[in-house]
Amino acid sequence: MDKGLYVHVPFCLKKCNYCDFNSFKLNHEDKESYIESIITEIKLYSKKFDKDYFSTVFIGGGTPSILESEELRLLIDSIHSNFNITESAEISIEANPGTLTKEKLNTLYSLGVNRLSMGLQSSNQKHLKFLGRIHSYEEFKENFEIARKVGFENINVDLMFSLPNQTFDEWKQTLEDVVDLKPDHISAYSLIIEEGTVFGSLYDEGRLELLDEELDLKMYYYTRDYLKENGYNQYEISNYAKDKKKCRHNILYWKCGQYLGLGPGSHSYLNEERFSNYKDIKTYCEKLRNFKLPIANVEKLDKQDMIEEKIFMGLRMNEGINLEKFNQEFEVDFMKIYKNEVESLKSKGLIKIINSRLSLTNKGIDISNKVFIEFLKK
Ligand SMILES: C[S@@+](CC[C@H](N)C(=O)[O-])C[C@H]1O[C@@H](n2cnc3c(N)ncnc32)[C@H](O)[C@@H]1O
Ligand code: SF4
Repeated sequence: MDKGLYVHVPFCLKKCNYCDFNSFKLNHEDKESYIESIITEIKLYSKKFDKDYFSTVFIGGGTPSILESEELRLLIDSIHSNFNITESAEISIEANPGTLTKEKLNTLYSLGVNRLSMGLQSSNQKHLKFLGRIHSYEEFKENFEIARKVGFENINVDLMFSLPNQTFDEWKQTLEDVVDLKPDHISAYSLIIEEGTVFGSLYDEGRLELLDEELDLKMYYYTRDYLKENGYNQYEISNYAKDKKKCRHNILYWKCGQYLGLGPGSHSYLNEERFSNYKDIKTYCEKLRNFKLPIANVEKLDKQDMIEEKIFMGLRMNEGINLEKFNQEFEVDFMKIYKNEVESLKSKGLIKIINSRLSLTNKGIDISNKVFIEFLKK
């Protein structure tokens, strides 16, 4: 069975106001010990996976493109020489505008990276500034065009909507600007206010006014329709792709496939176990300096955990869950276990079952978290 490899790079030039990912402002010293440590971690795992093949690799962050060309080369060469990566593997990297150069893009391309994920968020300068982004829309466009010239044929653009003070027309404009560039994939997330971020504090102090739910939904529906008209099919709640350009690595997560995560705070799911690394870079590096795996937590999943995870993740995708495969995999009868839940959710028009596939209806997607909860038994 296919496996995915995730490599976390925890540095950014500056922390964005909304972001609670495990990333912090770059400093030279931490970067040096990080590079040394991640290479050690790769080597420690290489023996454990000498017979396994990885068919997707995702270098995420943080801002992986903050690394210098030589550091990227060291990291990616080390991945290739220590793991078996299939020839047709999808190899993605998150690359932020403001940290990209033609030289870096050429290096990434020559190292076999075949998918770029670029964070733009908005094409509106006022919003970029408010979000705390380090780049302008013009810089993003320049980087995007260089990436195309270098040869990248699979580029994703991350966007966010429902931003404080954003009008419907401003969001429409961002979508139009991005679609004009013809990326292969678009992720469009509704802003979540996270604790411990600048936005989280402003919100707690009553100084951040959020858009109402109605406008959020209007933006979401418009996104879905507008992107569809332009050749981007929704395949997950926040993800849209042109033909054959769905992100294989993320699909592996949503299908509860197995993956190994490296780097500070990374999560792994292998052989019915979920485990995660120390988030703090100092502890992470310290463990590896002593040639110890930097694992902070291990959780063994029982059958009910796996069933719930499969439902929770599978319902995020438009194709939903194949109930025949589900029953075979878990040796259960889904319709027997969830008879009451299915009847009730169906009668409310929140889920549908077509050709033995269970998925959310449009109405169900609007309140997806409430639907997911219905399937939790533990
Ligand atoms: C791993 S993050 C960052 C990728 C990359 N470092 C960047 O910023 O361009 C992936 C995406 O998640 C989205 N995201 C991050 N925080 C969010 C939040 N609080 N609410 C909604 N979307 C968020 C952003 O679109 C971001 O580009
Ligand atoms: S959104 Fe991206 S660039 Fe901004 S802080 Fe988070 S990881 Fe860093």
